[in-house]
Amino acid sequence: MTTRTLVRGGLVVTAAEETHADVLVEGGRIAALAAHGSGAAAAWTADRTIDATGKYVIPGGVDAHTHMEFPFGGTFASDDFETGTRAAAWGGTTTIVDFAVQGVGHTLREGLDAWHAKADGRCAVDYAFHMILSDVDDSSLKEMDLLVEEGVTSFKLFMAYPGLLYSDDGRVLRAMQRSALNGGLIMMHAENGIAIDVLVEQALARGDADPRHHGEVRHVLLEAEATHRAIQLARVAGAPLYVVHVSAEEAVAELAAARDKGLPVFGETCPQYLFLTVDNLAEPDFEGAKYVCSTPLRPKEHQAALWRGLRTNDLQVVSTDHCPFCFRGQKELGRGDFSKIPNGLPGVEHRMDLLHQAVVDGHISRRRWIEIACATPARMFGLYPKKGTIAPGADADIVVYDPHATQVLSAQTHHMNVDYSAYEGRTVTGRVETVLSRGEPVIDRRTYTGRAGHGVYTPRSTCQYLG
Ligand code: URP
Ligand code: ZN
Ligand code: ZN
Ligand code: ZN
Repeated sequence: MTTRTLVRGGLVVTAAEETHADVLVEGGRIAALAAHGSGAAAAWTADRTIDATGKYVIPGGVDAHTHMEFPFGGTFASDDFETGTRAAAWGGTTTIVDFAVQGVGHTLREGLDAWHAKADGRCAVDYAFHMILSDVDDSSLKEMDLLVEEGVTSFKLFMAYPGLLYSDDGRVLRAMQRSALNGGLIMMHAENGIAIDVLVEQALARGDADPRHHGEVRHVLLEAEATHRAIQLARVAGAPLYVVHVSAEEAVAELAAARDKGLPVFGETCPQYLFLTVDNLAEPDFEGAKYVCSTPLRPKEHQAALWRGLRTNDLQVVSTDHCPFCFRGQKELGRGDFSKIPNGLPGVEHRMDLLHQAVVDGHISRRRWIEIACATPARMFGLYPKKGTIAPGADADIVVYDPHATQVLSAQTHHMNVDYSAYEGRTVTGRVETVLSRGEPVIDRRTYTGRAGHGVYTPRSTCQYLG
């Protein structure tokens, strides 16, 4: 017998509309919506009724950029798929797309198999994979085609980190040419890593070893230059391009200029760039290390351009780039040398809340919140309309969201496996109350009711956002 659940009395918010509607869930999917108070809705019977009066009923969040157990700088991101997806559920995110990594000298298949082994049977919510290409050659290019066919339809390349994940322009171009043929989407880490490494060496030679120098050497113009170069290479290849973790105003301008020409160029930013600044990197007693990520946090002036880009659709997606490292024992690896601080910030739990705060603050509309956090990431990465919306036939990934509750973000209360919060002490308005993943309650009125292994691997189609 399939369970029928009725989510009753809330304001259903999707990217397209807002309606006072009741939602009927059956067999893990959304069976029907009907206007609250209508005869149709009144006639529905259910095994379980969730009262959403005074609340929003929104699609589960789709976080298209996470790094569970990511290997970096001799250590691993501190959330594994179990702890990381549980924290995602607490924050109203019901799908993550994580980055499987091709090791240098290894095949894509080996990298993908390794990520399946880490994730399978451990996730609280559904998951999918992108593939990081760290070794572009004839055989990995051929393998891209196979991955696209089986549902890994996007590939990250790094113009940063020479000697580690870096691809030179020739490799970038070849991967883009391949993606133009096989329908894959290239995701670009756009920073000029060769130039950055020169500045790193010079800074350390001068004795500038504190975390704040991480922000200085990763210059805004080196993000803008790489963004420009990536766009031109994509044009030459005839391929679409998605630039990840955009932080600099000058990079947004490159994206906007390309989009004004009608090019299929897309951009993502992250809550850390919208809410944190270089002042965090300058916090004393090495506390700035907590905020080391790449691209780096920028001066506050850049935030206006990011918010504007989100409003004008020059930026389409907000993901977290969740890549947590504990302060004790992990970030501390870079005491005395900022270049040895593992790069990445925790955030998978707080994206939906911080973006709701942006609604409260007037930066974006309520529907735009759902668009950049749920619908567009689902379309961009081939998960729509199964994920990212509330409509008949979609997976019943539903969040009952209390827009009036306030909460204080803190490492004392968060669920991510990391010993600090990048947002410690910040009060936000809005809080997840109940979360359904394919109809199953994983958070029930602020209690975790999910389990490791409920979340399933979700193969993706190619990008649905083009055009
Ligand atoms: O600092 C970051 N962003 N760490 C994760 C890896 C990446 O480049 O996305
Ligand atoms: Zn191998
Ligand atoms: Zn990156
Ligand atoms: Zn990342």
